[in-house]
Amino acid sequence: MQWLLVIGIIVLLYSSLVGLLNILFPEKHLDWDNINTDVLNFPETFTWGVATAAHQIEGHNVNNWTQFEDRENKESSGSACDHWNRWQDDHNLLVELGVSSYRFSIEWSRIEPNQGDWNEDAIQVYSDMIDSLISKGIEPMITLHHFSHPIWFEEKGGFYQQQNISYFVDYCSRIFPYFSDRVNKWCTVNEPDVFSIMGYHMGMFPPGLRSPLKAIRVMKNVMVAHGEVYHRLKHLNPNSYVGLAKNVTIFDPYRRWNLLHWLTTFALNYIWNGAIISALSRGKMYGKSVTKVKNSADFIGLNYYTHVLTSPFLPQTTEIDLPSRSHETVTEFGYPMYAEGLERATKWLNKLAIPIEITENGVADGEDSLRPTHLKRHLWVIADLIAKGVDIRSYYHWSLMDNFEWAEGYSMRFGLYHVDYENQQRTLRNSGKTYQQIISRHNK
Ligand code: BGC
Repeated sequence: MQWLLVIGIIVLLYSSLVGLLNILFPEKHLDWDNINTDVLNFPETFTWGVATAAHQIEGHNVNNWTQFEDRENKESSGSACDHWNRWQDDHNLLVELGVSSYRFSIEWSRIEPNQGDWNEDAIQVYSDMIDSLISKGIEPMITLHHFSHPIWFEEKGGFYQQQNISYFVDYCSRIFPYFSDRVNKWCTVNEPDVFSIMGYHMGMFPPGLRSPLKAIRVMKNVMVAHGEVYHRLKHLNPNSYVGLAKNVTIFDPYRRWNLLHWLTTFALNYIWNGAIISALSRGKMYGKSVTKVKNSADFIGLNYYTHVLTSPFLPQTTEIDLPSRSHETVTEFGYPMYAEGLERATKWLNKLAIPIEITENGVADGEDSLRPTHLKRHLWVIADLIAKGVDIRSYYHWSLMDNFEWAEGYSMRFGLYHVDYENQQRTLRNSGKTYQQIISRHNK
């Protein structure tokens, strides 16, 4: 009979522990049928924007990504949206939408195609872009590294080698003065988490490696690079507003009664979110000191897309569909539509006590059947957070137009504008019109 007692105690302890975890870490779901997402109240000072990245739209870049596309026989980015030749027209799309800010990235491989080889013509084009935006009353926000960099940097080992950080820091310090008289908002790096894990653990971004330890090392080096760049830029212009874009993915246990699922959840939340927040708030990451990273951001950019339901058998490639709750709508990318997670994401970021800029949020939806709802739900959550006192200053929708979606190529369409890649025609989608109306209502 004794063993029955032992089993009983174990069951009791297990269920109390799991019960406690469920209370402490709830997975919030709202009853969207009873929420009117047409009522959105934002402060007048709120910044409305859209975001893009150089390699995804410019066309004909030569960088670590094109090298990877060729080597791995991936869909080639090719002409992309031919934005490099059509940027003037594309700026008119921004005007049509009515945005007051535009987040885009400048391509290191265009500016410094060979080490020390400085391409003044390319710099001039970016400079003209900035002037054009300002003349249209649109505030530029520049990202210095959005997943792509020159081949020479990649061949030296990229961010895997700590000694290479200085190349990036030097490049940033040199390019910054060209634009800093006109550009105030700067993102040093885009998503150190996605960049390192997709490239070094999932093997789906260049260099296509599959080693969790390498991914962690790269993530740390990218954060150190961010910290160095932050201090350099602030030294050059103390008034500039410098931060980074952090992808916050929320990890939830797939089975909420399974302790193993909880343990995986905690591990992934720490690796993906906690380590970077800890670097910024405490100057410590994966047990190592990254002192210059502490307090190295005037704002934190939030890129929010989804939550991931976690188990120890999580797929090792994003090509396998992720699990979802039965009531959740699953988007073309395989992500559950989970706007509630944006609120949970800000809880991570609030630890930093600095302003939050929503630097990306959007959905792959070629038919545009989900995007209007997706947009309004996320905006509703943001408005609600602002009303509760969270310091969120902007929203940059991902993306202005369909573009080259990295590992997924052209199959995933994230644009408020549809792009016909045969003739490069852009067409405003209904979701684009929805966004346009929301902006115009608030900018009156
Ligand atoms: C990246 C974008 C990408 C988007 C949609 C983000 O992680 O910053 O470049 O297109 O997600 O997948």
